[in-house]
Amino acid sequence: MSKPASVAAQPESFAFTPENRATADKIIARYPAERRQSAVIPLLHIAQRQHENWLPRAAMDHVAEILGMAPIKVYEVATFYTMYNHAPVGKHLIEVCTTTPCWLRGSDEIVGACKRRLGISPGETTPDGQFTVVEVECAGACVNAPVVAIGDDYYEDLDGPAIIAIIDQLERGEQPTPGSQIGRRGSCPQNGPTTMTSQSAISAKAADAGGLAD
Ligand code: FES
Repeated sequence: MSKPASVAAQPESFAFTPENRATADKIIARYPAERRQSAVIPLLHIAQRQHENWLPRAAMDHVAEILGMAPIKVYEVATFYTMYNHAPVGKHLIEVCTTTPCWLRGSDEIVGACKRRLGISPGETTPDGQFTVVEVECAGACVNAPVVAIGDDYYEDLDGPAIIAIIDQLERGEQPTPGSQIGRRGSCPQNGPTTMTSQSAISAKAADAGGLAD
């Protein structure tokens, strides 16, 4: 969401709530006073969460003032990372990874299912303000591709019906179960273990490593 909101959509001012200011102060205290600018990334995250998941210019200016930074320095950080939204987004921001591993594993199907189910293309928000869909670069969970991030959660090993079921749940106000949608534990092989499949192999490996063999 790199395109900034229109001037009309920008609030005139922004300030942390007392609770968020206290959290910001705790984060700033982790750094030497002369390095307080190192807190810019977490403070921007706090500001974004406070402001319905997008960062107006006034919020970036507020963070700049607290950290004693030139506003342009904060804008540079905020526009570099795609996690910061610069225009209003839906209540549920669906970030579909379409980088090569996810693409090879079916991200086109995920994008297509979102389009059909929600009637919007990537970069758009549903008229009711509930859902925004965007395409993103690698989400860092390639082993369980294809992957979608929604809010703070990752949904993995997806296909068209799975993402539609997740959207259905969100629409009903439910919380879908994050993680692998095919029951894969962690990032184990999809068809089960391929190494260390017998006790004798495990024992031999332990003996090789100088551990206890049975
Ligand atoms: S390519 Fe999709 S998570 Fe890495």
